[in-house]
Amino acid sequence: MLSKQSELYSGKAKTLYNTQDDKSLIVVFRDDTSAFDGVKVEQLARKGKVNNYFNAYIMQYLEEHGLKTHFIKLLSDQESLVKKLDMIPIECVIRNITAGSICRRLGLEEGKELEQPVFEFFLKNDPLHDPMVNDSHIIVFNWATAHEIEAMKNLTFRVNELLKPLFMKNGMLLVDYKLEFGRFGGEIVLGDEFTPDGCRIWDAATREKLDKDRFRKDLGNVIESYEIAAHRLGINIP
Ligand code: ADP
Ligand code: TMP
Ligand code: ASP
Repeated sequence: MLSKQSELYSGKAKTLYNTQDDKSLIVVFRDDTSAFDGVKVEQLARKGKVNNYFNAYIMQYLEEHGLKTHFIKLLSDQESLVKKLDMIPIECVIRNITAGSICRRLGLEEGKELEQPVFEFFLKNDPLHDPMVNDSHIIVFNWATAHEIEAMKNLTFRVNELLKPLFMKNGMLLVDYKLEFGRFGGEIVLGDEFTPDGCRIWDAATREKLDKDRFRKDLGNVIESYEIAAHRLGINIP
């Protein structure tokens, strides 16, 4: 049984620990909740646990549908075992409906259904507030190769094909989401997390927000809303 050894990295919401196996890590989902690249930080009770179970469900769903992820198994309420990836410092975003930064950047109203999903890359860099970058930046600055860019794009679209109908079937709109990828044994693998912290989920009928925008915009009932989304997907959170 693998257990936590030295701390590898502690980020805004999760801490990674080395294990006895140099190819695996233990991720601890903490209650810390951060927005605006670490500018607003609060502890929200149950968040670590809710996100750990949410992420496990989605990662397993993706794996069952043939998409390679870093997820190995749940270890406890706030811990999961994952493959240790060589992370690519790029965030891949897909948008099905306008919200958030695309509205600010392009002067759009929130809530417009896009004719086809929009794909964007951002550099993972909090002090610079995750600037948008393109394929050319990623290649020239050696963050990833052209082949890896292609793989990340294809996998991010494939996640949309799998998850958009899953949310819709359960009365929710998958508005947008952010994914992070890494290298493992010569392959590009989905890493990090898929939780209401890194995506936008709206009730399909009322468009009520069930994601981290509740925290960003001080709408209240943040974790209660994450739990509503989890419950609708059939995720059991003890
Ligand atoms: P941040 O670094 O943005 O503050 P988190 O608090 O979520 O974010 O920390 C998790 C960190 O772990 C992220 O930087 C992410 O890129 C990295 N990470 C996620 N999954 C893996 C993995 N399987 N192997 C190595 N690093 C990972
Ligand atoms: P944005 O509208 O702020 O660009 O975010 C788009 C989606 O990606 C949204 O669901 C939030 C998620 N996201 C993160 O989780 N972390 C990030 O650093 C960024 C840039 C986006
Ligand atoms: N994910 C970033 C943070 O944790 C940005 C955001 O969610 O607003 O601060």
